[in-house]
Amino acid sequence: MGGDLARLTEHGPWDAVVDTSGFVPRVVRASARLAATAAQHYLFVSTVNVYQGWPVRPLSDSSAVLECPPDADASYGADLGEATQYGALKAGCERAVIASMGAGRATVLRPGVILGPREYVGRLPWWLRRVAQGGTVLAPGSPARRIQPIDVRDVAAFALRAIEERLSGSFNLTSPPDATFGQLLESCKAATGSDATFAWVPDGWLVEQGVRQWTELPLWRTHPGVWAVDSNRARQAGLTCRPLADTVHDTWRWMGSDDRLPSGDGESSRAADHGMNPSRETELLRKWVDLGVR
Ligand SMILES: NC(=O)c1ccc[n+]([C@@H]2O[C@H](COP(=O)([O-])OP(=O)(O)OC[C@H]3O[C@@H](n4cnc5c(N)ncnc54)[C@H](OP(=O)(O)O)[C@@H]3O)[C@@H](O)[C@H]2O)c1
Repeated sequence: MGGDLARLTEHGPWDAVVDTSGFVPRVVRASARLAATAAQHYLFVSTVNVYQGWPVRPLSDSSAVLECPPDADASYGADLGEATQYGALKAGCERAVIASMGAGRATVLRPGVILGPREYVGRLPWWLRRVAQGGTVLAPGSPARRIQPIDVRDVAAFALRAIEERLSGSFNLTSPPDATFGQLLESCKAATGSDATFAWVPDGWLVEQGVRQWTELPLWRTHPGVWAVDSNRARQAGLTCRPLADTVHDTWRWMGSDDRLPSGDGESSRAADHGMNPSRETELLRKWVDLGVR
């Protein structure tokens, strides 16, 4: 990779580098050091996982960030657990970019969960497929739960704006907490033309049943900070977020189109971790109804 980047720098100068795939500080530092000689600006796609308080506490643009040096390798933080290690390494990557480029030539984007067409993780696609099948859908927690997914196209638009306007510093990227989980599922129903009904089952009971948060029921997570990320700085700098219903409709349209990703099936291996087995859903619904609590 170093050779490829060195060749790229020879063909510069470039207006900007957009780094969407940096996960290891030492690797990002090598890229950013080369970029510093050939590009005016470096935009690094980071994550809200960099915050010490994630996902437990509400977060702002100035919340405290995890420790991790800018020269760490992939083994750093192996004892922290997968999600925190990912966040710590991204924090180290951010530091590597800023140290290499200088603060005035670096933009760090910290998105929360990203949805939209070409999402191959399998979060929204799983819900769309499940709702399209119809019947009674196990719906987690409360329909009134506020959520803040951001559309990938809004992330991209803000990234371009940040480069064009040379916005430096870090920016949380989440939608305002206007949408709800109920609206998400109702939008899936509208988009797919399904006759599904939703059985809203309390968080605590699902936790007792061992339902895996975030993956087995995608986008469902009970930690209080998950959907309490303030993106004020980005909003003041021009971030706009389309309605969640548009994201859902456009994702469904994409799923029915010929626009496939290089992997061929449209989703990555990560999609295999997402979604609830149909027999497990049926069993949980039956148990819940047997409890007589609706
Ligand atoms: N998805 C979200 O909701 C979300 C939320 C917040 C932040 N982010 C950030 O957004 C970015 C994209 O997220 P994602 O979920 O799409 O991640 P992902 O599924 O892990 O995809 C990362 C992509 O980067 C490529 N990549 C990794 N290392 C590379 C390298 N050294 N050189 C070239 N390509 C490399 C991967 O290629 P291969 O497929 O060949 O491995 C893959 O295509 C990441 O930086 C992530 O931290 C994502």
